Amino acid sequence: MNFLIINGPNLNLLGVREKSIYGEVSFETYFEELKKIYGKIQLEYYQSNIEGELIDEIHRIGFDYDGIILNAGAYTHTSVALGDAIAAVNTPVIEVHISNVHKREPFRSKTMIGKDCIGTIAGFGLDSYRLAIEALLSRLD
Ligand code: DQA
Repeated sequence: MNFLIINGPNLNLLGVREKSIYGEVSFETYFEELKKIYGKIQLEYYQSNIEGELIDEIHRIGFDYDGIILNAGAYTHTSVALGDAIAAVNTPVIEVHISNVHKREPFRSKTMIGKDCIGTIAGFGLDSYRLAIEALLSRLD
C-alpha cells in the first residue's frame, strides 16, 4: 500500500511559522513519527510552494498510488486547477488542514478542492494527517 502526503505553500515552514496556529514541530520531525507508526505502509512526502508542481505531482502518482493526503495550504481556497487535477486522477484524495479553517477568517472556509476529495479533516493539528491515513486505511479495508 502506498500513500503520498502532499503539502502546499508555506508548509515547509511548519515549526517556524505562526506557531500559535500551526505548532512547534517541523513536518520532517512529524513525518518520521508517522513512518514509525505505519511501518507497513509505503509513506512518502512531497512539498512545494508552486501550484503547477503540486499539480504535476498529483498527475505523476495519481494513477498508481492508493491514497493522497493533501494539505494544499492557501491554494485550497483559490485553485480551480488543483481541484481539476484531483478530479482527473483515480487515486482518492483527502483534504487536510492543521488548523480549523472554519474558526478563522471567512475566506478559509471556502475550498476549491473539497468537492473533488473523498473527505476533509481539519482542526486536529498535525494529528489531522494521521487521521487522514486512518480514513484511507478504513476505506481500503
Ligand atoms: C492550512 C489552512 C490554510 O488556510 C492556510 O493557508 C495554510 C494552512 C492548515 O493546514 O491549517 O497554509 O491549510
